[in-house]
Amino acid sequence: MPGTRNLSGVAVVTGGASGIGEACAREFAARGATVAVLDISGAGQAVANETGGRFFHCDVGDDAAFEACAAQVEQALGPVEYLVNSAGILQKSAMKPRDFPMAAWDDIVRVDQRGTYLSCLYFGERMVTRGRGSIVNIASVAGMMSTPLHSYTPAKAAVIAMTQTLAAEWGRSNVRVNAVSPGVTLTPALKAALARGDRDVSTVKTVSPINRLIEPGEIATAVAFLASSEAAAITGVNLPVDCGWVVSNGWHFYGGLREP
Ligand SMILES: NC(=O)c1ccc[n+]([C@@H]2O[C@H](COP(=O)([O-])OP(=O)(O)OC[C@H]3O[C@@H](n4cnc5c(N)ncnc54)[C@H](O)[C@@H]3O)[C@@H](O)[C@H]2O)c1
Repeated sequence: MPGTRNLSGVAVVTGGASGIGEACAREFAARGATVAVLDISGAGQAVANETGGRFFHCDVGDDAAFEACAAQVEQALGPVEYLVNSAGILQKSAMKPRDFPMAAWDDIVRVDQRGTYLSCLYFGERMVTRGRGSIVNIASVAGMMSTPLHSYTPAKAAVIAMTQTLAAEWGRSNVRVNAVSPGVTLTPALKAALARGDRDVSTVKTVSPINRLIEPGEIATAVAFLASSEAAAITGVNLPVDCGWVVSNGWHFYGGLREP
């Protein structure tokens, strides 16, 4: 429930400077957590200031710098209880494989897939040692189905898969690992994609049963629930917060969604 103060201790939010990560930083702070905002963007400083937290400049794809940053966070704020992995980049365009530069493919895998794994590794292993912790990875509905995004979709499918493998690996250590898969969410990244003409938002009404875009705060409340002790028996799940996008996929062959 929004407004509930059910989180206490330190929460790390990667990608906390913008969009879904920023909404998570604000939601976790409102629920009582001390938030560490990790981002490559200096805008994270303002989010940290406004939420009473701390900003750490960190590139989630850079092994050595990230490992040092994880140590620095715990030294400054104490043991991390919650980890939200929201740092990510969207695939800019749906090019055919032969036209899609491997450098762009690598960038997405480096941040979205490898960065999420490194974050789980550096913070999760510390949680394992202490025997407590809760991790929520931001995946995507694009990781749950085929799309023309030949780097982003496999990278997000990997995030869902690593959520399951790490949940099984760390459950005995009382560390839970879950994922939230947002649908089309109105963040700065999405707005930039719309401005470039890379996404057609007019289709959202046709393909999603609850026919609207999602607000970042709606993703954050789901993330906060999974992180909290209210979800103490839940680990290894991937929760779509998508206005029903995934479940309407099979309807288009039969004439699409119907009006009441
Ligand atoms: N917006 C959507 O519709 C949507 C849908 C599904 C999934 N997602 C996922 O949600 C997450 C957040 O996306 P968003 O839409 O809020 O985007 P956003 O661009 O608004 O925020 C992403 C943040 O991640 C940071 N970041 C990027 N690369 C980084 C790196 N190497 N190290 C540290 N920080 C880095 C950016 O600086 C930014 O602050 C991403 O993982 C994205 O794939 C978004």
